[in-house]
Amino acid sequence: MSSFQSGARRALRQALVSTRQHLHQQTTTPRRASPLLSSSPRYFTTSSRLLKDEESPSGKEGQYARTDHTIQVSYPGPSSSQLPPADSLVKGIGHGGVPTLPTFSLQGKVGVVTGGARGLGLVMGQGMVISGADLAIVDLNQAEAEKQAELIVETFKRDNPSATRLPKVTAHYADVSSPESVQSCIAEIVGAHGKIDSLVTSAGFTENFEAVSYPFDRVQKLWGVNVDGTWLFATEIARHLMERKAKGSMVFIGSMSGSIVNVPQPQAPYNAAKAAVRHMAASLAVEWAKYGVRVNTISPGYMLTALTQKILDDNPDLKEKWTSLIPQGKMGKPEDLMGPVTFLLSDASSYVTGADLRVDGGYTCT
Ligand SMILES: NC(=O)c1ccc[n+]([C@@H]2O[C@H](COP(=O)([O-])OP(=O)(O)OC[C@H]3O[C@@H](n4cnc5c(N)ncnc54)[C@H](O)[C@@H]3O)[C@@H](O)[C@H]2O)c1
Repeated sequence: MSSFQSGARRALRQALVSTRQHLHQQTTTPRRASPLLSSSPRYFTTSSRLLKDEESPSGKEGQYARTDHTIQVSYPGPSSSQLPPADSLVKGIGHGGVPTLPTFSLQGKVGVVTGGARGLGLVMGQGMVISGADLAIVDLNQAEAEKQAELIVETFKRDNPSATRLPKVTAHYADVSSPESVQSCIAEIVGAHGKIDSLVTSAGFTENFEAVSYPFDRVQKLWGVNVDGTWLFATEIARHLMERKAKGSMVFIGSMSGSIVNVPQPQAPYNAAKAAVRHMAASLAVEWAKYGVRVNTISPGYMLTALTQKILDDNPDLKEKWTSLIPQGKMGKPEDLMGPVTFLLSDASSYVTGADLRVDGGYTCT
């Protein structure tokens, strides 16, 4: 066994287990306590497919496929650092100053992003604002959503000093798995913005238990957020669009785990949930086509969020291992979702519905 292998094993073991619940508890205080955020945390932050060639330190097969309750990785850095630096993005609203198809603009549209206070949802929301939309950020963590809403507007002001109109970005509490919470949240958004045109469902999480020992209440919670949460927001906003006789576009955030099975870590309910999200989108796309409501999914691969970046910074050997299975040779950045989400929400994709856009660096092709 080489020292790289044993070092990598140790590092992978430490790195691949994290605590999304713990992150919330450490860095933020949700406005209301959620059962999801109150029990002991056991989350992987990224898939460990690349562990397939690794043996456990004890040599016991399947070691990495279990959740290690003792290891936690805390959420890194100030939350403000989650917004990509402006100079990495195209500045300006829509096609202003930059030659591009006007149909890609989201100007005049009001978009909703669930799970938008951090991670992929936050950056997709920023992409929507850069593309001209007004935005409602929905999250369990309303305080963080409010802070990020202000930061998005500040960033916009800095990048567009001569803008005649500032985007309206608001923050709203919802537990996406609760019908009552979703209804009151959507009423609040319509009250604040007057209408809703687009939806991105990014609220979701994964965790790792073997199926035979997966506590059923946790399975229900996972499906509640990933599947019910998508359903509840989609159907409530569809009713709103139909009442207005307005066109709309929805993008559900699935995962490549909805099409392939990650190995070796066990996450059957998550994979099933993301497959459900993909087929839910296709089914609703067909059902709502006659109303002018389009529904598509984006299925990200391994994305380098603030959390996974910290893991890789702490374990430099891992990066090469993690990326070795990705044809593009790198993990995705949250910014890599800005273009796909803008395309699917905009009129540039007006004949695209029921599609699944994989943003995975080619991972699922292999
Ligand atoms: N990060 C990845 O590599 C990756 C890859 C594929 C798919 N995804 C999917 O992308 C989505 C976003 O992932 P992320 O990495 O940005 O996660 P994240 O944990 O950084 O952000 C998720 C956000 O959702 C919120 N949230 C969780 N439960 C909620 C609930 N019940 N109601 C309202 N808000 C809730 C959280 O507070 C958080 O702000 C998830 O659906 C995830 O499954 C992520």
